[in-house]
Amino acid sequence: MSGRLQNKIAVITGAARGIGRGVATVFAAEGATVYAIDRIADEVQQLAEISGIRPICLDLTDADAVADAFAGIEAEAGRIDVLVNNAGVIFFKPIEETSVSDWDGLLSVNLRGPFLCTRAVAPGMKQRRAGAIINVSSNAGVQGGNNESAYCASKFGIEGFSRALAIEFAPYNVSVNTITPGHPVHTAMSEVTYDAEKRKIWKEPADLAPAFVHLACQDASGLNDQYVRAWDLVVQLREGKL
Ligand SMILES: NC(=O)c1ccc[n+]([C@@H]2O[C@H](COP(=O)([O-])OP(=O)(O)OC[C@H]3O[C@@H](n4cnc5c(N)ncnc54)[C@H](O)[C@@H]3O)[C@@H](O)[C@H]2O)c1
Repeated sequence: MSGRLQNKIAVITGAARGIGRGVATVFAAEGATVYAIDRIADEVQQLAEISGIRPICLDLTDADAVADAFAGIEAEAGRIDVLVNNAGVIFFKPIEETSVSDWDGLLSVNLRGPFLCTRAVAPGMKQRRAGAIINVSSNAGVQGGNNESAYCASKFGIEGFSRALAIEFAPYNVSVNTITPGHPVHTAMSEVTYDAEKRKIWKEPADLAPAFVHLACQDASGLNDQYVRAWDLVVQLREGKL
């Protein structure tokens, strides 16, 4: 590890499992202090065994809990340098079988959660004129998928949210990017969504994490306002092209 995130304070949502867990682990190994947020208490608490990771158990759909947690992090750490809005959920249903609570539940995690977390870090990042926001998107943020209307709406929403934020934060030198795995990745979510062919080639979440590290180091004058395919970026970094 290169220590590229030495002295950085990072918050990662959905960090108990999958991509969030892999990114939290690599960020800590790169020297960051990582506040790892998830609603699965026992699994997020296990991360306390890793040096540099401080677990927080909360449900991102709870606006008061999110506000309290971010205020607590800023009080303890003094600032937040990097926010990774990663937590997400998915279901596959035809629209007529999608209940109002299915729809609201998914949008509440995938879109309202990033809104709540970004709103919480915005004043500090703008005041310090520094920071990086990484919003986890998907192929479903740029193209439709069968029986995925709610998930696609949330991920197209993340794209629009992020493009607007990039304009808003640019004068404050804060970068805002979206990222998609860009390659099959082995997580609890993909255990449900991937067919046998994709499972043969999937990568582990930590394999994609260097792309998140790179984005965490960007300010608004660097790689900014982009939809990044994590695996492509990892390959470019390995080949020394960046
Ligand atoms: N796995 C893939 O193939 C894939 C592809 C494209 C995009 N993504 C996106 O990557 C992100 C991570 O996905 P993953 O595959 O690691 O999924 P995962 O299911 O393995 O992990 C998601 C994590 O988010 C947490 N979470 C969900 N709702 C929460 C809530 N309300 N409050 C707090 N935590 C909550 C879960 O507990 C879990 O730990 C998601 O945004 C997903 O949409 C995944």
